[in-house]
Amino acid sequence: MDISEISSTADVKIPTDPLAQIIGQDEAVKIGRMVGKQRRNLLLVGPPGTGKSMLAQAIASTLEKPKEEVLVLHNPEKPERPLVQVRAAPSKKADKRPACEVLDPYSVPAFVSEKLGFRCRRCARMSSPDASSCYFCGADKYRRVRGPFDDLLVGGATERQDRVNTTRVRDGKEELVVFERRGEKVALLTQKELSKIAELEKKAQYKVLLPLDRAVFVQATGASETELLGDVRHDPYGSHPQIGSLPYTRVVPGAVHEAHEGVLFIDELSALGKLQRFLLTAMQEKKYPITGRNPTSTGSAVRVDGVPSDFILVAAVNFNDVQNILSPLRSRILGNGYELLMNAYMPDTPENKMKLVQFFAQEIARDGRIPHADAGAIEELLIFARRKAKEVDGKSGLTLRLRMLSGAVKMAGDLASAEGKPLISREDVKFALTSARPIEEQAGEKYGSWYRAGLADAGMKREGGGNEVG
Ligand SMILES: Nc1ncnc2c1ncn2[C@@H]1O[C@H](COP(=O)(O)OP(=O)(O)OP(=O)(O)O)[C@@H](O)[C@H]1O
Ligand SMILES: [Mg+2]
Repeated sequence: MDISEISSTADVKIPTDPLAQIIGQDEAVKIGRMVGKQRRNLLLVGPPGTGKSMLAQAIASTLEKPKEEVLVLHNPEKPERPLVQVRAAPSKKADKRPACEVLDPYSVPAFVSEKLGFRCRRCARMSSPDASSCYFCGADKYRRVRGPFDDLLVGGATERQDRVNTTRVRDGKEELVVFERRGEKVALLTQKELSKIAELEKKAQYKVLLPLDRAVFVQATGASETELLGDVRHDPYGSHPQIGSLPYTRVVPGAVHEAHEGVLFIDELSALGKLQRFLLTAMQEKKYPITGRNPTSTGSAVRVDGVPSDFILVAAVNFNDVQNILSPLRSRILGNGYELLMNAYMPDTPENKMKLVQFFAQEIARDGRIPHADAGAIEELLIFARRKAKEVDGKSGLTLRLRMLSGAVKMAGDLASAEGKPLISREDVKFALTSARPIEEQAGEKYGSWYRAGLADAGMKREGGGNEVG
């Protein structure tokens, strides 16, 4: 398709393959396809907003569904050494979970979708609970629990929860209900289902650690050791036969385990610091023990050996941090994978312009609440892409720092939709580009005008416009 034939981004056909949606990174996409197929590792180096996270997710989308279910079993001889069982077929018992209502995350109360990790607490938009930061505004969806007492602070613990206990009123009566995250949906469990589950769990002396229907994309921030490597939760009564809970019930997998058979994506690999060493071990052994990581907790006496952790590592790092990667880890990645430098810009050719137009169309479709962009708007956005390549990278070409561009598209879209317009116009883009500037630029301008205002006040009139304040 030629750009001159396009009257708006609605004319553009968006590829369904997530890898084909990544533009301007042909080499990365080519390698990405191989990485998934051959189960190699990948280190991505490059500037922000060029598609590193997007590529990691796209690679995961090429993988098959997990084939192994991993269970932790009660060990009657030695409860503090629970056993691991890996099995190929889905567990019949686990399937006996009572049928219950499964809801869309949009249709549960806002505080529930927030706690389950769907809804952003800053911009209130929905995204996958597997992403730890909001897709739309970038806010951290769940702050990690940092200290042992954080979860005692009411309202302070914002870690993602798997279930939310609450009440609802039915037929004038208040009843206890539980909302539970099930992949991208929310299960609603009422009293009836809850007691059935309790009965089943009493009989079963195991728990499913890694269910078959787990996500194949796991992102770890490396904020804590437990997030990466798993933990055994504390029980103040330990494994006391009457009031305590058996150790195997308290075993929590880490990201290295959850990514078993999938992709483990680590943003800013160098920020892992000394944890890189553990990551390396998990990669080499393809299994990693889970122990209680807080030495003062009753969980610390518990250890589960041989929990599988066979993942594809996709890691991202800034150019300047490459030397902070542990060298055996880096050679491990290279020994069974690739290192790749992302492009920050691309030549200004008609073909590449079309790719950017595809990108605009994708962003608009993905946002879902803004109209398409007309030809004038497209032209203006392309001018901006050219200007940014010059300003930021000092190159003539089109920028591939696309998060920046995506922001401009969305803001222009918001303007158009606020005015009820059917398409984003050139004016919307122009306005968005002048008002969506970094705070430094805005401040520079405001102070400048304060200065001028001051001069004017003192009777020293100056020529020229500017934002007059006050
Ligand atoms: N090459 C690309 N093709 C299409 N869209 C892109 C591309 N790069 C970035 N985007 C858009 O910008 C958004 C941000 O990209 P992404 O999060 O993948 O960047 P990143 O390289 O991981 O940045 P950071 O270093 O800040 O984590 C994407 O969700 C997508 O909308
Ligand atoms: Mg990223």
